[in-house]
Order: sequence, then C-alpha cells, then structure tokens
Amino acid sequence: MKKKLKIGLFGFGVVGQGLYHVLNETHGVKAEIKRICVKNQNKQRNLPNEIFTFDKADIFTDEEIDIVVELIDDATAAFEIVKAALQNGKHVVTANKKMLAENLEEIYNLQIKYDRSVLYEGAVCGSIPILRNLEEYYDNDLITSIEGIFNGSTNFILTKVFEEKKSYADALKIAQELGFAESDPSLDVKGFDPKFKLTIAIAHTFGVFVKPENILNVGIDKISAVDLKYAKENNLTIKLVARAFRDDKTIIGFVAPQFIPADHMLANVRNEYNAVLVEGAFAEKQVYIGKGAGGYPTGSAVLSDISALTFDYRYEYKKFTQGEGFTFSNKAVADVVVSFTEKNAITPADFENFKGGYQGNGLQYMTGSITLQKLKELSKREEVSVILSPNAEITVLQKQAVRVERA
Ligand code: HSE
Repeated sequence: MKKKLKIGLFGFGVVGQGLYHVLNETHGVKAEIKRICVKNQNKQRNLPNEIFTFDKADIFTDEEIDIVVELIDDATAAFEIVKAALQNGKHVVTANKKMLAENLEEIYNLQIKYDRSVLYEGAVCGSIPILRNLEEYYDNDLITSIEGIFNGSTNFILTKVFEEKKSYADALKIAQELGFAESDPSLDVKGFDPKFKLTIAIAHTFGVFVKPENILNVGIDKISAVDLKYAKENNLTIKLVARAFRDDKTIIGFVAPQFIPADHMLANVRNEYNAVLVEGAFAEKQVYIGKGAGGYPTGSAVLSDISALTFDYRYEYKKFTQGEGFTFSNKAVADVVVSFTEKNAITPADFENFKGGYQGNGLQYMTGSITLQKLKELSKREEVSVILSPNAEITVLQKQAVRVERA
C-alpha cells in the first residue's frame, strides 16, 4: 500500500533542482519535499525561503520526514548525512557515486543495523535503471560481464571532438556549462567518476565490495593528435569504457579509453548519453542506453528511488549474500595502442606481446598487449597515451599460469 512520504532534501544544485521539477510534474508519486538543507546562506533561490534551512538537525529531528535525499557535492559530508539519517530512522536516497563507492560495504552494513534502506539508482549512469535490473532481473542469470560508457561529460567531449572537430578544451567548457561535469572536472576526464560508478556496479553484478583505489582508471585527458589520426584512418571512434568481467572466480575491472569500431554497440552512443552492455551466460548481450548526466535525467532516477520507497523497496545485495566468493584482481593483460612523442620513450620491451608500430613526423605508436600494472605506469607519463585496441582481448594472468601448470 502506497503512503505519502515526506522528504528532507540536502543540496539544491543541478540534480536537486532537477528532482524538485520532476517531482512536481509527476503526480503519481506520493511524496513531497518538506525541507531543503543548503550550505550557502547568500544564494538567491527560486523557492519560498521557509522551505530552506541551514541546520541539518531540522531534517534529522523532524519526525514527519521519512526520507533523506542527499544530493550534495562533498562526499565526506554526504557520508555523514547518510549515517545520521539512518541513525535517526530515515531511509536515504543518494546520487553521490564517490561517497557510495568509497563506503559501500559500510553502507550495506548500516542498512542492516538500522533496518532502513539506502537507494542510489541515480548514482550509476544517470537515468539508466541499471541497479534495480542487476538486483532483480538478473537474479537467475549468470552475468559474465558488464561494460559501457559510464560518464556523460567525457562522452559529450569525445562526441564534439570527433563529430564537430571542437577542441578538447572548448568541449569540456560546454559540458561544464550544461551542468554535466563534476565541480572538479578532472574527476570526469581522468576517469575517476566512471570508476566510482563501476565500483558500485561490481557490487551489484558480482557481489564483490572493492575499494575504488584498487581499480585502475585511465582518462581521456591525454588523447593525442596521433590517436585521433589513428582513429580516423581506421574508421574508429574513441569511447571511455568502464568494464568488469568474470573469469572463473576472478573479477577484472577497470576504466580506460578504447578505440571503437563503427559497428560496435557503443559506437553510436553520443553526447551525454551513457550505455551499459550486460552479458549473461544465457541471455547474452543486452544494452541499456540513456542520458547519464544532467538535472532532469538524474532527478528522474532519484524520483524512481523515492517512488520505490513508497512500496518499501530495498536492495538485497543478492549476489553478495549468495556468496559466490569471487575475488577482484588486476592481474590481466590487455591489447593496447600506445602513442608517444619522444622517440624511444616506449620500446617493444614494454609489451608482453609486441605486435608492431609506426614512426613518422616525430609521432609514433606501438601496438601489443601489456599488463594492467604497465597500463597504470604508462598512463601516468605525460608524453604517453594508452588506448585499448578495437575489440581488445583482455586475459586474466593467473588463469594463464594455471593453464601452463596443467599443460
Ligand atoms: N559528471 C557526471 C557525468 C555526472 O558526466 O557523467 C553524472 O554522474
């Protein structure tokens, strides 16, 4: 039975305002915003003053408020809000992917301890309903991999660079103006933001809580003129791909740019759209596409969580409680294209399996497979850009060793 829920909202930025709008326009959801807690006392806002408060306690101690919706920018402060809300008997809806990724296991335990729900569909790929599908629909299917475009800003930038020949800096500026980028845009362009989302997705796909610092992220900030030329000559585009897959009991996951052939399912996912490609043992490939950033798309996912609370929905973390005992690992090799400006900066010795290369006009690239450890090292070097090859094979190293022993 649905009841009318009262919301205490923290934060009134792009997503907070988006939520306010979509909630007002959606009459079927039995929920209303009672108070909004904001930090800046001097900012002009387009709602009556009475709805705003600057004191968190006004929300935590209000017994009429059932749900705390947390939409602030600061991950540390957000986690304090989540804890206080649960301690005060309130359910939580949040879209703070950094906070969730860094504290997911504790948040799982807090939900059990306080017998309250924390929902966060809006934190992973904006409007795409992926978490609830992972929790419910794929309960009986063995998911072998999940991958896709988990960041709207970088996809927007890459689309503008490839299709409209805009400069990287101009495209980033537009993504910021449209409210897609994080307040610190390096979280987007260096691949941290999609990594936080991948961390959350891994927990709901494979039942593994992994700390984001253990997951490799390479961004799009070093894509070079050689990379663009290579893409053009080979009829490829570049996408920032977040991926995790299972090989026996091992889960490999990381974020890195990849050359994408024109016929790939991700090739035509443009602008701030995100895509999630789920592969199951029996269902095979399924793709979800939707807007991954922006106030209304993310606000609509937050609204859906609020609506889910009206029928007492909780994530059950089934993949975790089923206890398959998967382990996260970075021991894998991947096919890559490495471009660099300084001659001999990269040599065939950097590769596990060197395939070939090109040199000319002071620009060069090499292709082959490298370990994820090497990918991490190379991605830290200023003059080097590493991009996964089209249809790159990624092989688990430990499994290879086992195979050698058996042979
Ligand atoms: N900065 C994020 C993005 C916002 O561009 O995808 C949505 O999480």
